[in-house]
Amino acid sequence: MHATVAREATVFLSLMIAILFLAPRSGAQDQPSAVEAGNNHLALTPPMGWYPWNEFGQDPQNEKLIKEMVDALVSSGLKEAGYTYIGPDEGICFSRDRSGKLTSNLERYPSGLRGLGDYIHRKGLKYALYTDAGTHTCSDAMPGTKDHEYEDMAAFAAWRADYLKVDWCNTQGQDVARTYATLRDALHAAGRPIVYSLCSWGEGEPWKWAASVGNLWRTTGDICSPGKADWDNAMKIVAANEKLYEAAGPGHWNDPDMMIAGMDGLSEAQNRSFFSLWCMMAAPLMAGNDLRKMPLSTVQILTNQEAIGINQDPLGIPGRIVRRDGQVEIWAGKRLFDGSQGVLVFNPGATSAQVQVAWPDLGLVESEELYVRNLWTHQSTGPHKAGISVVVAPNDVVLLRIAKTNAFPVPPIIVADTYLVSLRASGSSAQKLKGMVTVKTNGSDELPLWKVQPGLPPWLSVAVTRNGKSQTLTNTASTAGLKQGLYHALVRADNVEPVSRRPMSALYYDVDLEIVGTSSGGTAN
Ligand code: GLA
Repeated sequence: MHATVAREATVFLSLMIAILFLAPRSGAQDQPSAVEAGNNHLALTPPMGWYPWNEFGQDPQNEKLIKEMVDALVSSGLKEAGYTYIGPDEGICFSRDRSGKLTSNLERYPSGLRGLGDYIHRKGLKYALYTDAGTHTCSDAMPGTKDHEYEDMAAFAAWRADYLKVDWCNTQGQDVARTYATLRDALHAAGRPIVYSLCSWGEGEPWKWAASVGNLWRTTGDICSPGKADWDNAMKIVAANEKLYEAAGPGHWNDPDMMIAGMDGLSEAQNRSFFSLWCMMAAPLMAGNDLRKMPLSTVQILTNQEAIGINQDPLGIPGRIVRRDGQVEIWAGKRLFDGSQGVLVFNPGATSAQVQVAWPDLGLVESEELYVRNLWTHQSTGPHKAGISVVVAPNDVVLLRIAKTNAFPVPPIIVADTYLVSLRASGSSAQKLKGMVTVKTNGSDELPLWKVQPGLPPWLSVAVTRNGKSQTLTNTASTAGLKQGLYHALVRADNVEPVSRRPMSALYYDVDLEIVGTSSGGTAN
């Protein structure tokens, strides 16, 4: 165990040096629009992924469970559909050693937290970790970041986290906005792009100030106790979150909590309704069900690309309730990147309802002739004048897109084959080593070429080539002049959505180069 800890420490140090050298420059934001969240250019669409808390709570979380879930995310098709961020929640994964440094809990996570991150990155997924802003996490099983903000954020960066959820337990006497802003500064100082998820359950009304602090903030208390999906509570959360629609946008999202769709106790109609509501609210799509045992109907709901398309719309405008007809809610206001609009008719009642959706309800001119696409039946009709009539089963929804033409393009959703390039060379002679990262978009259109940001270390060059909707980033490492040791680079690239020209979330991945044993070489610094 000691040897592993020592190895982690060495790797940690080399990484910190490399990361500091490569720290992305701040102030280089040349993009217009409401991109905030400390301008980190991350989460410009709501984050998608999986988190363990809703299904499992704390105790069963360990490396084996998380890796099984990673594998299930890939094999079920969820990864292909855009789900990316995954990792332990409050999963007893680290402690603080006597010197004050965070160290992995190697009993539960034998590969260490860096090793788990590497596993996740190799699968083309991104690494989510969890901590707390107070003295301890909620169960007191893990240390919180209070008074260790800068060291702890450096540790998460060294473990190569891409997403950090920061809880609000054991924070007596701390100011919410000030505490989360300090952690934001500490994350910036750590130098790794990390999606920053605030979890004060609405305390301190983060929707009023957190757009310049984090990428998402919980708006309410927990959606359920672990393992117990609670439909009624989810509906209360929807009611509270809906009112806050004006606060959210690209890079800064209202977070009504992880999803309960697919958990035991919900009907198929409730799963569909839940998912449609999360899509309409532009809420983060963090699945919370057991991915290893999903019926096909759940997979089909969670991977509905047309529904995901409105969630991942680059304009990032949340929908809202524009009219009620008895218990039935008509949600609209979700203007989309191609000029179309997302519309949801939700029937939380116990009997079927026939509802007239009139164009003026949606802010549209009555005489307009418009096409309507049903995002669950995947059929388009039209042109319709004045409005349409829909029948909605109990607890069910009709999710629509309404447009001037019968084309309903899906925005880009990025899926990568890996986020880690590992290269190994012998230092005895100069070599050129190549490692590829292939990135594809599920969107209707091809993307312009990804633009790699300058500032790569001299030993690395990256070329981008396109093959239809896939692009390959070829990483070439030249070992000439390098000493024995570990080298690390973070490659970051930018793109724009081709229809709206909106900036897309930064794409980034790690490149590791190890140069082994030479008789003459020293060690890398
Ligand atoms: C809080 C959060 C939950 C989960 C638990 C872990 O309750 O809101 O999402 O992270 O803590 O203890």
